[in-house]
Amino acid sequence: MPGLFISFEGIDGVGKSTQADLLEEFLTAHGRTTLRTLEPGGTELGQEIRHLLLHRKGEVAPRAEALLYAADRAHHVATKVKPALDAGTDVITDRYLDSSVAYQGVGRALDAAEVRALSMFAVNNLLPNLTILLDLDAEAAMSRRKNTGTEPDRLEREKTEFFEAVRQAYLQLAKAEPERWFVVDAAQSIDEMQSQIRARVEGLL
Ligand code: TYD
Repeated sequence: MPGLFISFEGIDGVGKSTQADLLEEFLTAHGRTTLRTLEPGGTELGQEIRHLLLHRKGEVAPRAEALLYAADRAHHVATKVKPALDAGTDVITDRYLDSSVAYQGVGRALDAAEVRALSMFAVNNLLPNLTILLDLDAEAAMSRRKNTGTEPDRLEREKTEFFEAVRQAYLQLAKAEPERWFVVDAAQSIDEMQSQIRARVEGLL
């Protein structure tokens, strides 16, 4: 039996990694072998790509950005995710191909269908059994991230619009494929979110 493949999605600051960690604990407590991973940067090569994407100075052209995320993902799936699933290990990933569709496809105004096709090529069509969207409005996510409580400056305002566009893109994706997606209101407490997630995942075990 292949393992369960679960991805977490949502804009920056909604608490994906906390929920992914807690879900890993839950699955482990159920006696399941679990691999907790992330994109970008789930492999050694991916760490280098992550550095190029997030910490290198200067602009990255939007199509180059999409290809770098796709390259990270292709290597991640081929060397880590797929072998684990084939061995019966459950895989929980903090971000997967829907991040590219939402961030590059909509946030960066590339064609979302093309970005999805690129990602599907990268992963050889491997989709998660379940994708958990932690949904929070961009203002709330931003203030959770910054934790300042002050008026956002011009740049932060622009960023808020970008993140709101990404959020809306996620909601559209969830609506278009309701059998794969589970939307969780990320304005709730950590425990409330986790118990809803566990109830949903329990149905798959
Ligand atoms: P991540 O490490 O999840 O950042 P955070 O912990 O702040 O949520 O992801 C890094 C950034 O990369 C994040 O802003 C989202 C972005 N991203 C894309 O734009 N496209 C992608 O395909 C992926 C996987 C991430």
